[in-house]
Amino acid sequence: MKIIIINGPNLNLLGKREPEIYGSQTFEEYFVVLQAEFPTIELHYFQSNIEGEIISKLHEIGFTFDGIILNAAAYTHTSVGIGDAVKSIPTPVIEVHISNTFSRESFRHQSYISPNAKGIIIGFGLDSYKLALKSFL
Ligand code: DQA
Repeated sequence: MKIIIINGPNLNLLGKREPEIYGSQTFEEYFVVLQAEFPTIELHYFQSNIEGEIISKLHEIGFTFDGIILNAAAYTHTSVGIGDAVKSIPTPVIEVHISNTFSRESFRHQSYISPNAKGIIIGFGLDSYKLALKSFL
C-alpha cells in the first residue's frame, strides 16, 4: 500500500516552531518512527511552503497512490486551489492537524479541505498522523 504524507507551509520548522503548540520533535524524526510502526505501508513524505507545489503533488500522486494524509497547515484556511485539487483526484485524502484548530483563533475554524476529505483527525499532536495511517489498514 502506497501512502504519502503531505505537509504544508511552516511545517518544515516542526521542533523549533512554537513548541508549546506543535511539540519539540522534528517531522523527520517522527517520520522514522512512523516507518518503523507501519512496515507494510510504503510511506512517502513531501513538504512544501508553496501552494502550487502542493497542488502539483496532489495531481502527480492522486491517481496512483492508495491514500494521502494532508496537513495543508495555513493553506487549509485559505486555499480554494488546494481544496479543488483534493476534489479532483480519486485517491482518498485524510485531513490532519497537529493542534486542535477549533480551540484556536476563529480563522482556523474554516477548512477548504474538509468538504472533500474522507475523514479528519485534529488535535492529537503528531499522533494525528499515526491515527490517520491506522485508518488505512
Ligand atoms: C496546523 C493548524 C493550522 O491552523 C496552522 O496554520 C498550521 C498547523 C496544525 O497542524 O495544527 O500551520 O495545520
